[in-house]
Amino acid sequence: MTGIVLGSGLGPLADAVVMQREVSFADAGLPASTVPGHSGKFIFGTLEKAPVILMKGRVHLYEGHPPRAVTAGVRWLAAQGVQNLILTNAAGTLNPDFHPGSWMMFSDHLNLTATSPLEGADFVDLSAAYDPTWRKAFCKAALALAMPLHEGIYAGLRGPHYETPAEVRMLRFIGADAVGMSTVLETIQARSLGLPVAAFSCLTNWAAGISPTPLDHREVLETGKQSAQSMISLLGKVLGDYKKHGITAAPTR
Ligand code: HPA
Repeated sequence: MTGIVLGSGLGPLADAVVMQREVSFADAGLPASTVPGHSGKFIFGTLEKAPVILMKGRVHLYEGHPPRAVTAGVRWLAAQGVQNLILTNAAGTLNPDFHPGSWMMFSDHLNLTATSPLEGADFVDLSAAYDPTWRKAFCKAALALAMPLHEGIYAGLRGPHYETPAEVRMLRFIGADAVGMSTVLETIQARSLGLPVAAFSCLTNWAAGISPTPLDHREVLETGKQSAQSMISLLGKVLGDYKKHGITAAPTR
């Protein structure tokens, strides 16, 4: 079973799932998200006949939640028997070749939140945080669908403010292609639980200072909505071909 976390504006993905039942964040013991575009529930169902649990909405550090609360949804998904995790989000792009409206698959991340969801001596190896087998499968599927799919490095910041142009220049200098306020802690949590992870940013806007227009959360939601369809097709294709790609869960630690 695959867990899929839906980011800002990517709710339409839920419409592609044949639903069996729903569980609210409250019933799962999770804090409710307070952000527009992030209604909180889990949806059990199938996507192209592959069993999935969607996590619609997520909990963010910038809402004042501690790192363990931010990743409680990932632990809950793992407890339901999820063996693979797909994370999606909305992000600003700082790579001049990656235009808003397109998708970027993570090759790696920079955790700039200055925190971790792990406790104690949990020295998780993150040298291949984003599963190489899955990355290949997604690249192949994107090619087959003629869907532009970039690969790059995501910088995860705490937010909730957007970056300054000087910060965006610094992020580019240290190797980031996209910037956002989520996902990195969820990946770390999932790796600690032994789940292979794939993650995708819907590039909703040029990061601050790259475009002359100021950033606006409504623009982020709108672009997310418009780009959701291509991600639905991509996920459907890869999960539909699930067995063919030989994706299995990594041994749990
Ligand atoms: N910066 C940070 N987070 C974001 C952005 C951005 O430009 N766009 C969407 N989420």
